[in-house]
Amino acid sequence: MSKEVKSVDYGLEKIFEGAEDFLPLLGTDYVEFYVGNAKQSAHFYKTAFGFQSFAYKGLETGSRDSVSYVLKQDKITLVLTTPLNSKSPINDHIVKHGDGVKVIALWVDDATSAFEETTKRGAKPYMEPTVEKDEHGEVVRSGIYTYGETVHMFVERKNYNGTFLPGFREWKSDYNPTPTGLKYIDHMVGNVGWGQMNKWVKWYEEVMGFVNFLSFDDKQIHTEYSALMSKVMSNGNGRIKFPINEPAKGIKKSQIEEYLDFYEDSGVQHLAVATDDIIKTVSQLKERGIEFLPPPPQAYYDDIPRRLGDHMNMMKEDINELKKLSIMIDADEDGYLLQIFTKPLEDRPTLFFEIIQRMGAKGFGAGNFKALFESIEREQEQRGTL
Ligand code: FE2
Repeated sequence: MSKEVKSVDYGLEKIFEGAEDFLPLLGTDYVEFYVGNAKQSAHFYKTAFGFQSFAYKGLETGSRDSVSYVLKQDKITLVLTTPLNSKSPINDHIVKHGDGVKVIALWVDDATSAFEETTKRGAKPYMEPTVEKDEHGEVVRSGIYTYGETVHMFVERKNYNGTFLPGFREWKSDYNPTPTGLKYIDHMVGNVGWGQMNKWVKWYEEVMGFVNFLSFDDKQIHTEYSALMSKVMSNGNGRIKFPINEPAKGIKKSQIEEYLDFYEDSGVQHLAVATDDIIKTVSQLKERGIEFLPPPPQAYYDDIPRRLGDHMNMMKEDINELKKLSIMIDADEDGYLLQIFTKPLEDRPTLFFEIIQRMGAKGFGAGNFKALFESIEREQEQRGTL
């Protein structure tokens, strides 16, 4: 597969000087979900999000134990995997967590050295470096555990020009809904248990050579009822960003605790996917049945000119249109960003997607946290989990 990552210019090189880029990571390669019914999940992600059929492995390709559908939209690759019998260990993952993210795969030049460097620094091995071959060349993959049962796979594909990975065939379908403008993964957030955030911050620093470039404590992220803490980790070139959340004490149960209760472990909370035109993307997603968190109150939109300050001049979007679609807006010194969050995409209130458009801003919408969490709390109240 020819794969060039358009370097996303975050302008954060100075902040990342402390990062020790011994891997280095070239980008996100794929995200693999373990799901109860990959065929139906694939239909959902195609129909609702506009992902395109890309590759497949299953009984027809000689895979007897599991089936995987690979979907693509611009630079984003999702793999949806389901076991084909009761003996597969994938079942245990699904029984415990429900549908969720198992693998965040990272694209590297050398998967063997990535494995050696990270395990030497304390990573728990998941898969020793393994060479997979077919007529299109070879791929080397290795893997380590991160929080919970989540795994980072290192994928070295410089000697491969097949569709996805050896063992997969190209998936051609007669059903191809149009894309919705999703371009690349901006960040992926992990929820970890009480008191675990700093442990995992240290792990990403020591094992992966990441730096912690933004932190939010429970004084900044709280509502009347609940609180959480968050630290954002980035690799050296800024292409991979993993915020890590942990719950903090509040009067009622935070959304992070709700996640941990239902996922029954630490795990991936949300995938933030970038678009160049959030109004168009969100309009299409709504038409296709994606449900988003309810909008913040009118006062939130009335306050936008004050919060944006000078950036108001460069703003192209109409506030009324943003409000109509419940899109939120936040600014930092470099610009502004637009963002919106889906409701959980599974029956358990666990994984959801964020749609984000950056207009210079490099943050994560801290100015929206309060409005966002109040919106989530209204949902939790209905679920009886607040
Ligand atoms: Fe996010």
